[in-house]
Order: sequence, then C-alpha cells, then structure tokens
Amino acid sequence: MRQSSLVVVANRLPVDDSVAPDGACEWRRSPGGLVSALHPLLQQHTPATWVGWAGGTGPAPMLADVDGVRMHTVPLAGDDVRDHYEGFANATLWPLYHDAVEQPVYHRRWWEAYQRINQRFAEAAAEAAEPGAVVWVQDYHLQLVPGLLRAIRPDLRIGFFMHVPFPPPELFMQLPRRAELLLGMLGADLVGFQRPQAAHNFAQLATKVLGLAATDRRIAVDDRVVRIGAFPVSIDMAEMEALATRPDVVTRAARIRRDLGDPQHMLLSVDRMDYTKGIEQRLKAYSELLATGHVKVRDTVMVQVAVPSRERVEQYQILRERVEREVGRINGEFGRVGEPAIHYLTQPFDRAELAALYRATDIMAVTPLRDGMNLVAKEYIAARVDNAGALLLSEFAGAAAEFPEAFLVNPHDLEGLKLTLMHALQAIPADLTARMTAMREQLRVNDIQAWARSYLTALDQSGNLVHRLT
Ligand code: UDP
Ligand code: G6P
Repeated sequence: MRQSSLVVVANRLPVDDSVAPDGACEWRRSPGGLVSALHPLLQQHTPATWVGWAGGTGPAPMLADVDGVRMHTVPLAGDDVRDHYEGFANATLWPLYHDAVEQPVYHRRWWEAYQRINQRFAEAAAEAAEPGAVVWVQDYHLQLVPGLLRAIRPDLRIGFFMHVPFPPPELFMQLPRRAELLLGMLGADLVGFQRPQAAHNFAQLATKVLGLAATDRRIAVDDRVVRIGAFPVSIDMAEMEALATRPDVVTRAARIRRDLGDPQHMLLSVDRMDYTKGIEQRLKAYSELLATGHVKVRDTVMVQVAVPSRERVEQYQILRERVEREVGRINGEFGRVGEPAIHYLTQPFDRAELAALYRATDIMAVTPLRDGMNLVAKEYIAARVDNAGALLLSEFAGAAAEFPEAFLVNPHDLEGLKLTLMHALQAIPADLTARMTAMREQLRVNDIQAWARSYLTALDQSGNLVHRLT
C-alpha cells in the first residue's frame, strides 16, 4: 500500500462510475462543488491520496491516478448506499442542515449504516496516511470519521471541513444521535465551516449538548484543544479565466446566443436538481413576469441547467416531476414555435461548455433557499473577464457574504425576486461593470489557493505543509 503525507477523505472520489446512454459504464467527473474545489488543489500536491466512493455498488474498482492524485476507493454495497448515502446523509442530515426546507427523516437503520460506513472510511484513511500525515476529512457524510480515525491513528493531524451549512441549535437538537455526531467532529484538530455563524452554532452545541467549555475559536475536549473557524471555500479563478478566454469558448459563447435567437437578455441558472436551490421559486418569478408582460419571450430567454441528483431519494424525484411540469406549463403558455420561454437542460456539462454559457449570459440567477457557499456564483464571476454581466444572488447562499455588489435577493419573497430581476435586467452597463469589477477583486483575494492556505496554515502549525502546496 502506497502512503501519502496528505490524504483527503470525502464521500465521493473526483470520478464517478456513471452509466452512458448506451448502457455502457463510463468514468465521469463527479458532480458538485466539493469536487470542483478540491480537485485542482490536490493536483498541486504530490503525492496526495483521495479516499472516497466511486459511485456504483459492489467491489472496489482499481482506479489509476487522476491528474497525479492517487485514488483510494471505498466500496459500498447496495444497502450501504441506500442507508448511508441516500438515507442518513441525504434524507436526514442534508434537509436538516438546509433549514429543514424539506422534512428530515429519521431511521435507526440509517444511523447504524452511517456508523458502519464512517468506520470503513476511517480505516481506509488510516491505511493511506503515512506516519504523521495530514488527513483532511470533508463534509456531512463523514462526521464520525475524525473521532474514529484518531482512535486508530493518534499520530495524524486531522482536519474536518463542512461544505454545507451547520444549523442553529434548535434544528440540530432534533437529531436523535446529536452527541455522537458532535463528538465525531471533535476528533479533529481543526473544524472548519463556511461561515462564522456556523462555527458559532457548533460552539454553542458543544456546550449545550456535551457540557464543554467553548468559544467561537476553541473547544476544550479532554486534554486537547480543538480549533474551529470559518474558511469560505472558493474556486480556481485562474483556471476559469483561462477557459473563458480560450478562442473556442468565446466562439461557442457567440454561437449559444445566436442559437437562442440573439435575445436582448439571456438569463441563466445552473444547479444540481435539488430542493435547496430555489428552482421552483425562480420559475414562478419568471412565469409571473411573462404573464404580466414585464418580460417578453422574444427579448428575454431563460436557460435552466438542472442536473439530476440523488435520483433514488423520494424528495428529489418529487422535485424533478414538479419542475418538469412547471417548465412544460410555462413553455406551453408563453412559448412560440422555435421560441421556448425556457431552455431546460438536464445533462451535465463539462467546464468548457459552462464557461461558454457563463460568458454568453447577461444575468446569472443563483437563488438557493439555503446553500453552504455556491460555487456556480463564483465561477460566473471568474468567467466574466470582460467585467460585464449581472449576478442575481440569494442572501441565503454563503457566497452572499463575500459579494455585496451582487443583486441580492430573498428567494422566498416572490415580489422581491421579480423586482430585483427587473432591476438587474434594466441596469445600465456602467453599473454592471462597477459591480463585476468589485466582485472579481474580491474573488481574486479569496480563490481556492487562499482557502487552502488559510485552512492548512491553521491546521499545520509548523507550516511545512503550506510550503509544499505553494
Ligand atoms: N457543474 C458541472 N456541470 C454541470 C452543472 C454543474 O460541472 O452541468 C459544477 C459547477 O461548475 C460547480 C458544481 O457543479 O462547480 C456545483 O457546485 P455548487 O457549489 O454550485 O453546488 P453543489 O452542487 O455543490 O450543491
Ligand atoms: C454538495 C455536497 C457534496 C456533494 C455534492 C454532490 O456539494 O456538499 O458533498 O458531493 O453536493 O452531491 P452528491 O450527492 O452527488 O455527491
């Protein structure tokens, strides 16, 4: 077994075992922001190992290195996926951590699977880590891993980062196994969150549930001090800028606009099909603006990318049906031959096509009901090397704290959403340029390298690891 000095542990590997339309197996980039953030980072640290699940069920495939990063696969059987990933992670924790916008479901069998799978990930991480290595555990699927790993390998420096929101005590207290979850995270040397409020919630819970002495920066656990803090995750800005200026991408952006009939305004949203993303509220706002004649299909075209996600979880199936019914209704009511009101796309796009879409669009609508960060918003800013374009951004996305110059909206307020969308549509170019310039400056200050540096500096007091990464 090859061992590394840096090991990332995440539920998903950066590659996913997908089924192609012809039924054959193919490897694709995994969905979601966690992979977008970490993958470019690890490529710069060799040799690093990524411990995770490769999608699918059954024995672990032997995977070659991906862009220089070693893949250490944790196999999951069908009932592991059902009870750990689809159950406890995505039907209990995910909705609860996102303001319970859907009702969280509790089953004891799911909790047992969560413990079992976390143990399996901890053992895999212990195998992959060289003596004294840094092991960086990611996200809500693996909250028990830091504690379990420390019990087997006390020599390691262990970090934990939560990519999703961490809820206030009144929500978290609903969890039947709340003490175990908190203790699991406290096995880390440093627990990182997207927002200071999340670190505050965690500290409050450590005192309330476990009776520990805690501030928003430190928690005393037995004879250790666990540090906590906010480290807003970001993207590889230079990579997106390079993509957005590639001649084929620029040509593709022009082609997209032509294919849409050269509208006055193109409105774009890019989401996983998830009830936290506010897709239905956004469609409703657009539909009402069409109904009142404030926007016209000939002038304003909406493109909604909604990539299916967690498709065996019931709430996701219900959402997809509702979204597709609504898109059909809006197109039926307001579209014309060759001029649909909404171009609705469910296939996942690669980064070059996304960059072209970002460059083509006038208004990027990112309006989740709750989101840990939302990297699509940051990718849009990075792609706008021309300092043009408007970002409509939910106050409830972590990204809102960094970009006050966006057109900020409360996605629950339909009238407010419509007004702000109209405001963005009617903004003068000089206003948009000033806003985008400021947002791009901020993004440059906190890109993915800065995020990793600040987290790993805090984790690795000696500073050795940071030197290796920069
Ligand atoms: N994404 C992609 N292809 C698509 C749609 C999305 O590669 O067709 C990527 C997108 O570029 C972004 C990530 O998926 O990097 C979504 O991350 P975000 O933080 O916005 O939301 P999440 O899916 O993690 O909740
Ligand atoms: C969010 C989560 C990630 C997850 C991603 C995609 O970004 O924070 O941990 O990987 O969504 O979701 P999926 O269920 O497909 O892994």
